[in-house]
Amino acid sequence: MGDTNPALLVAQITDIHIGFDPDAGEDEFNYLRFLQVRDHILAHEVQPDVLILSGDLADGGDPNSYARLRNAVKDLPFPVYPMTGNHDTRSVLVKTFPGFENEDGFVQYAIELDGLRILCLDSLDQGRHGGAFCEKRAAWVTRELTSHPDTPTMIFLHHPPIVAGIDWMDPKASEPWYKRFHATVSGHKNIVGIQTGHLHRPVFSQVEGIPISVTPAVAPAVTLDLRPVDTDVADERGIVDSEPPFYSLHRWHGGSLVTHMQPVGDWKTLARYGDNLKPMMKGLLAERM
Ligand SMILES: [Fe+2]
Ligand SMILES: [Fe+2]
Repeated sequence: MGDTNPALLVAQITDIHIGFDPDAGEDEFNYLRFLQVRDHILAHEVQPDVLILSGDLADGGDPNSYARLRNAVKDLPFPVYPMTGNHDTRSVLVKTFPGFENEDGFVQYAIELDGLRILCLDSLDQGRHGGAFCEKRAAWVTRELTSHPDTPTMIFLHHPPIVAGIDWMDPKASEPWYKRFHATVSGHKNIVGIQTGHLHRPVFSQVEGIPISVTPAVAPAVTLDLRPVDTDVADERGIVDSEPPFYSLHRWHGGSLVTHMQPVGDWKTLARYGDNLKPMMKGLLAERM
């Protein structure tokens, strides 16, 4: 599956949760964090080929939040692809971002790039926090994977089908959607990576031997705490922290997928490549010969 094409860059922003504080208007915390992340991506010299918004776009799934998001991305110089998360309302999302539903009514679609396919999946079970992956959705994925068996393929879905150890956010490995997803991707050698959100944390694992990454949220982070939850004992543990917003850049080049995760905050560049560092750069690059 090696290639000689130039690098493809897939940006991922996830768990924006616009509308969490609906009375704050343009000063809303999550909205401002989204603009910070968007502008950080735009400041790069190398721009992404596509941007994928991987679910939990609107905290309450309301039309106003989707409209604000659409306005914030409408002038971006690359295509933007929306996905569903458990906080989204599918019917409202597709009114604001039309054209992404498949024949079964799910927000599932393929993005065709030069030598790379991306399958964006819909893991929303309206009204439920956890994931979903029904037989119709699985059949669609199987058709897409088997009809392009030699094309490297990334899979995006909101819910990570892994047990990360954050008890109150985790699925059970015995859940039907979890088992169905694993069975659906198992053995498909064309899948080069699975990209998710939902956990509001940076996490890496494998699904059936396929690398999976969880991109942290634009909204505040879920606290890293690996103790089990006792539903009868509220132990005052932290569950949400004001860590900075993140995004990912997934770089496909030379038959390899590399994921960069970037927090966005108000920090300073401490070293720059000036004339004084030319000898160091020459030395570093000469080592690679
Ligand atoms: Fe979320
Ligand atoms: Fe979520």
